[in-house]
Amino acid sequence: MDKLLIAGGRPLEGEVRVSGAKNAALPLMCAALLTPESLVLENVPRLVDVRTMARLLSGMGVEVERAEDGGWRLRAARIARPEAPYELVKTMRASVLVLGPLLARCGHARVSLPGGCAIGARPVDQHLKGLEALGARIEIEHGYMNARAERLVGARIEMDLVTVTGTENLMMAAALAEGTTVLENAAREPEVAELAACLNAMGARIEGAGGDTIRIEGVRSLSGARWRIMPDRIETGTYLVAAAAAGGRVRVAGAAPATLEATLAKLREAGARLAVGDEAIEIEMDRRPAAVDVRTAPYPGFPTDMQAQFMALDALADGTGVITETIFENRFMHAPELQRLGADITVQGNTAVVRGVPRLQGAAVMATDLRASASLVIAGLAAEGETLVDRIYHLDRGYEALEAKLAALGARVRRVSSRP
Ligand code: UD1
Repeated sequence: MDKLLIAGGRPLEGEVRVSGAKNAALPLMCAALLTPESLVLENVPRLVDVRTMARLLSGMGVEVERAEDGGWRLRAARIARPEAPYELVKTMRASVLVLGPLLARCGHARVSLPGGCAIGARPVDQHLKGLEALGARIEIEHGYMNARAERLVGARIEMDLVTVTGTENLMMAAALAEGTTVLENAAREPEVAELAACLNAMGARIEGAGGDTIRIEGVRSLSGARWRIMPDRIETGTYLVAAAAAGGRVRVAGAAPATLEATLAKLREAGARLAVGDEAIEIEMDRRPAAVDVRTAPYPGFPTDMQAQFMALDALADGTGVITETIFENRFMHAPELQRLGADITVQGNTAVVRGVPRLQGAAVMATDLRASASLVIAGLAAEGETLVDRIYHLDRGYEALEAKLAALGARVRRVSSRP
């Protein structure tokens, strides 16, 4: 199992280029199920989750080809097996995104329930409720969702809570439904707007994505398209927080700054100097960060996917920061690991009180989930001495070429392979 060895205590200097967004790539790959023509995706990040989605789609009979330029060509001329097996769904919850498209295109689908997950229960009730409102009949049997519908029919759906993949699933299903669907209390994440824009390029008629009410006029069929995936806002934010924690001067290129406002505001509050261009963000940090309070919320609020990274920043900040997680239960598993590096954190329910210490000290730590791993890397970069992060397969799910990108910023980071 690979580990990451970090010799910390060095400021970061230089430029890093952001990859395509994981959370945009995964739903866009599923959109290929909606058409028999080719969907060509550019700027697809090289990530384990993307490969898992490719395996899932090819298992259904979708032709998946890598183009030389890093793009992917997906062609679902025929969907032989509209099924998502437990073996793949359990490793990646976003697999549930195939349910809506399969049902709309094939009239039936069999998708494993995602099951428990390290960061909370994460049910899919809103996905199911929405699909049922569109006329699907869904039965849960032997851990699988069996869904059927001759043709989905548009409906007005008010979601009980804001769900990103739930909104995406319903939007894809409704794109091929008969008549009009209105999704209320929809997720406003930029990745939802991106998916809608790509579906429109394929011939869908979707309005309002990016806002909380999305209107979808169903069409009979969709065609192929070529689409370039937006930059990853969480990867962008992670490198910015790394620079804020370790100090130095970093330019994050190829970014979409407009999608990062809540994160940038918190970095400024922590004392970072930022220069924000159209497609790049420069950060300069020459002092100890000031502690900031963070409360996660659906977009445009502060992203839960940046919460762990800010906990690492607060751990070495001047003052006390209060971090409140409102999206996921049990998303503080990085706290005890950060404590191994000398952080002073008290967790009570969904709140963590982080009393900044002047310096962290390297230690062996264990990654528990994707963003928790990022926080441990950030803390390791800022800590004195060596930090060994175990279970970095979590990082490979969501950060392309992490150690190469950090090394280009002058960090001393090395992947250590050890046999199980
Ligand atoms: C997506 C992101 C993930 C991010 C999260 C929140 C992708 C592939 N993943 O995950 O990186 O952390 O949004 O921004 O885009 N819920 C229900 N019932 C449902 C659906 C969700 O109760 O049917 C709850 C979840 O348990 C959670 C909250 O709603 O507490 C938000 O989850 P959701 O937005 O659905 O997260 P994902 O779409 O899985």
